[in-house]
Amino acid sequence: MFVVVGVTGGIAAYKTVHLVRALVTNGHEVHVVPTEDALRFVGTTTWEAVSRHPVTTSVHDEVAEVRHVALGTRADLVIVAPATANTLAKMAAGIADGLLGVTLLATTAPVVVAPAMHTAMWEHAATQANIATLRDRGVHIVGPADGPLTGGDSGPGRMVEPDEIVAAALAVVQPHGDLAGLTVTVTTGGTREPIDPVRYLGNRSSGRQGAAVALAAADRGATVTLIAAHVDDGVLDAASRHTAITVHRVSSTAELKAATDAAAAASDVIVMVAAVADYRVAGVSDHKLRKEDGAPRLELVENPDILAGLVEARHAGQTVVGFAAETAADDGELLERGRAKRTRKGVDLLAVNRVGWEAGFESGTNRLVVLDTAGAVVADVDGSKREAAEALWDAALAVHAGRVGAHRPSDQSAD
Ligand SMILES: Cc1cc2nc3c(=O)[nH]c(=O)nc-3n(C[C@H](O)[C@H](O)[C@H](O)COP(=O)(O)O)c2cc1C
Repeated sequence: MFVVVGVTGGIAAYKTVHLVRALVTNGHEVHVVPTEDALRFVGTTTWEAVSRHPVTTSVHDEVAEVRHVALGTRADLVIVAPATANTLAKMAAGIADGLLGVTLLATTAPVVVAPAMHTAMWEHAATQANIATLRDRGVHIVGPADGPLTGGDSGPGRMVEPDEIVAAALAVVQPHGDLAGLTVTVTTGGTREPIDPVRYLGNRSSGRQGAAVALAAADRGATVTLIAAHVDDGVLDAASRHTAITVHRVSSTAELKAATDAAAAASDVIVMVAAVADYRVAGVSDHKLRKEDGAPRLELVENPDILAGLVEARHAGQTVVGFAAETAADDGELLERGRAKRTRKGVDLLAVNRVGWEAGFESGTNRLVVLDTAGAVVADVDGSKREAAEALWDAALAVHAGRVGAHRPSDQSAD
């Protein structure tokens, strides 16, 4: 494969030496295109030695070979690692003031980008807007990881390790798994509705089932957005590290709705696992309610129905899967409640699980019954949350394939 590796001016550039070496060792033809600033971190000699090809930053070298567009047009894959905030901004704006910028505009190959920067730079609205623009264009964003940064502090912004970037990039060009090419959104965790600055109304959802649904989809080849409300410690660790999963954290139902609606438009399949509060507190107090003021009377107002909204806004070929946690005396009542809810919500599939003081929440296992539009049970699994997730995807994929007539990739996919 003809791979172009763009390198930009961050400390993590030294790790990209390993990335280039790994690609070359695996038999790929690798051309490194550094920015001018990248060469202040790792020099031309190193890039030429590891890639075994000449390296330049300029569009004015080898003009007779029209090198400024040749690299982009010949590329089967372009990786930018590390990608600085500056280069992400230039990519979003389409600026071509050097060989890397020109190559990125000239290519129709999949582009995989591994951002690396200080947490504040990563979280800045400008960077997040640029990332959203690039994602919309089908650029694959890998990371960043959360961990120690160059300045001694810690947070999201570390470049994902080179081997993971290589694996993610190769997965993009050589998709695998029966969900390859699909873009999916999964929600998880429990929303919290504030009462005052320190208290909230919440629920016991641990987020484990939604995280398992996201991981199963990603491992089967999907590109996943995981919108996570409040979850137990560690529940999101594996999903956060997975290169095909982007995790967005939210708190209230309103935030979950905004994030889900935004991600839904570009999704082939939406799976709403999150435990969403039906009601929020009217008139949230801006100071802590005090005991001496007497027992508070909380007035509740209904939250918007996120699932119903998704079904209403659903585009052709999009599959919407809902979850219902029900307390029921027996299987008969569980199914009856599930069927009524499926009809009410209009979803393609409803996964019903029985919850109680001892069952469903906060545990590693789940009994999940999946109902289709005819009310038929299309999956009934009693096992780990991962097993439940796999069964859910089997059912969702069958329904989705039926909806689109054939299993075809979304517009988001660059493969
Ligand atoms: C020591 C050092 C480390 C830097 N690390 C990063 C970084 O990790 N991420 C980033 O976005 N910018 C970083 N910068 C700033 C970029 O080098 C600067 O924005 C530069 O203009 C990027 O140019 P380029 O995107 O064309 O390579 C660093 C600068 C210095 C001096």
